[in-house]
Amino acid sequence: GGGGGDTGASAGAGDGKIVMGFSQVGAESGWRTANTKSVQESAKAAGIDLKFSDAQQKQENQIKAIRSFIQQKVDVIAFSPVVESGWDTVLKEAKAADIPVILTDRAVDSPDTSLYKTFLGSDFVEEGKKAGQWLVDQYKDSKDPVKIVELQGTTGSAPANDRKAGFGEVIKADPKFEIVASQTGDFTRAKGKEVMEAFLKSTPKIDVLFAHNDDMGLGAIEAIEGAGKVPGKDIKIITIDAVKDGMQALADGKINYIVECSPLLGPQLMDLAKKVVGDEQVPPRVVTEETTFTQEQAKEALPSRQY
Ligand code: AHR
Repeated sequence: GGGGGDTGASAGAGDGKIVMGFSQVGAESGWRTANTKSVQESAKAAGIDLKFSDAQQKQENQIKAIRSFIQQKVDVIAFSPVVESGWDTVLKEAKAADIPVILTDRAVDSPDTSLYKTFLGSDFVEEGKKAGQWLVDQYKDSKDPVKIVELQGTTGSAPANDRKAGFGEVIKADPKFEIVASQTGDFTRAKGKEVMEAFLKSTPKIDVLFAHNDDMGLGAIEAIEGAGKVPGKDIKIITIDAVKDGMQALADGKINYIVECSPLLGPQLMDLAKKVVGDEQVPPRVVTEETTFTQEQAKEALPSRQY
């Protein structure tokens, strides 16, 4: 481990294995659980010694974990930043220690791209656009106003910022679309339910719910049913992720459309880690490939869905 530096103070057991410090966001959603599993299994398969740390959705915990990885002289640091801003200081510390950093799943907003080697993950703006496009197509023959409520992801996170922007950009082409309420549900089922309950009380007419992930959508379904309405019919629902529970609700007709966001980043992350540790060139941006699902497509895909 430790890349065989001559100080002998590296993190590994001296068995020549690459040591990766990985700071995960938390365990807020089904997506995140699948992502953690992918990272852990792929590290094992690639013979990489993984030091895994869960930040419980707190930036301060991630900064602490990264500092500890620097102190342990790991070979490479990978992390999924809970929010976009506020990373420059700690990333400069990693750079000064000559430890390469790989952004995984979520981006940082730092203009200094020399602070990390590459960014592996989805195009969240594109996901928001796909969600908006489905809505535009769905209501193309109607002139009536379409009242939308939005459950946003974690405030300040790249997926919340970008999905909101992409969705907004597409629906603004037609003034009949109106976002009547928009609030964070922190990407969790419990918060999704709670905020949707509040929306249902405060907003007399809701045609559509756009939830930034499946879990918040699933929580909202409970709230909608609790209010005596039929999810998928009285209120159309669009979500992002396509984890198994979301796909089941889509197949059952409770969700109307899901934009896929793949959590299976582990294998690509380990490949990139080996390259950056070996001083090989890597592309500055690696975008995950993903699709979309209608109710019919969900029925077909469900039996072979891995997560
Ligand atoms: O960063 C990816 C997002 O984080 C997923 O869409 C969401 O489910 C997760 O919590």
